[in-house]
Amino acid sequence: MQHVLVTGGMGFIGSHTVVCLMEAGFEPVIFDNLCNSDTKVLEGIARIAGRSPIFIQGDVTDSAQLDSVFEAYPIRSAIHFAALKAVGESVSQPLRYYRNNIGGLLELLAAMQRHSVQNIVFSSSATVYGEAEKMPVTEDTPLPPALSPYGSTKQMGERILQDDPYFQTVCLRYFNPIGAHPSGLIGELPLGIPNNLAPYVTQAAAGLREALTVFGDDYPTPDGTAVRDYLHVMDLAEAHVAALRFLDEATERSAFEVFNLGTGRAVSVKELLHAFERVNGIPVPHRIGARRQGDVTELWANPSLAEQRLGWKAERSLDDMLRDAWNWQLRLVNQ
Ligand code: NAD
Ligand code: WQD
Repeated sequence: MQHVLVTGGMGFIGSHTVVCLMEAGFEPVIFDNLCNSDTKVLEGIARIAGRSPIFIQGDVTDSAQLDSVFEAYPIRSAIHFAALKAVGESVSQPLRYYRNNIGGLLELLAAMQRHSVQNIVFSSSATVYGEAEKMPVTEDTPLPPALSPYGSTKQMGERILQDDPYFQTVCLRYFNPIGAHPSGLIGELPLGIPNNLAPYVTQAAAGLREALTVFGDDYPTPDGTAVRDYLHVMDLAEAHVAALRFLDEATERSAFEVFNLGTGRAVSVKELLHAFERVNGIPVPHRIGARRQGDVTELWANPSLAEQRLGWKAERSLDDMLRDAWNWQLRLVNQ
């Protein structure tokens, strides 16, 4: 079994990816400092996969801790999820974001080099595209100056990997992952007030928040609300298995490859809200508020390159995402 280091593997996308890796016959080695996750996730993973994954509590900015993991397991590849991800917080605490996201990437790469590990899958983000002119965006869309320190850490991370061809990189630009494992045993665990739309919707529906504020209904879009490309976290998780296979097997690839991961479907805030109410048969209290600073009007993917080269395509519908997100929220409330 191929050992894969999964930094940030206790988090939202990481935990779902660990399940898919175990089911695909890989041996994930989770390395996470738990700054935005909880060890309870391990129980959920174990119940789905039938056994516990390997977990080491540690920080990617700590080279000695990284060395001990590479010494303990015959790691062949890394998937690097570990990062801080709150856009607003990155504006108020830029140094913390650069230290964790860039410092952590640099320490990880140095440790990989010391232990002769070349393959890496890097978690990038659609945020690198900023306010793009032409929709849907393809991977060769030029990247504008980043809109936030968080976005800047993703652009820089991509650049660092591109600049060093020792590393065999698949860089994945995630659009808006939502939903949860259909079992309801793992999902997203936002600490405090959620920044993102889907967890806010589920918490408002559950009565944990008074009402969702729709950030602006005066955008130049069909219903006036902003448009994104939401994809099911299980589809996203499966893309990482495809990326590892691509690194192992593709005969024609360069040292640095980048792919958009989205559905290619444009969905507005109101559309998502109404779909949630319809699918789950529950109203979501909401009001219209001002636009949120830094939000782009619309952003959705052309995901065809991932289909052509990775053989990956998002299969799950918006209804699936919203049903699974609600199922997970109900489990959390009843725990
Ligand atoms: P998450 O916060 O749920 O998971 C990140 C995990 O990394 C957490 O378990 C956290 O404890 C861990 N971590 C953070 N800093 C660490 C450090 N220094 N050392 C060890 N562990 C550390 O986030 P997520 O939504 O699962 O995101 C995973 C990755 O995907 C991140 O790189 C994020 O920037 C990127 N991404 C997320 C989204 C999204 O909407 N969720 C979109 C695009 C890109
Ligand atoms: C989606 C839409 C909001 C909350 C962010 C990051 C991006 C990536 C994914 C990491 C927007 C609207 C939201 C609310 C609302 N993360 N909204 N009321 O902004 O597309 O992307 O998460 O890489 O980098 O920027 O996602 O879920 O925050 O918002 O009306 O309470 O929902 O204005 O139009 P976003 P989101």
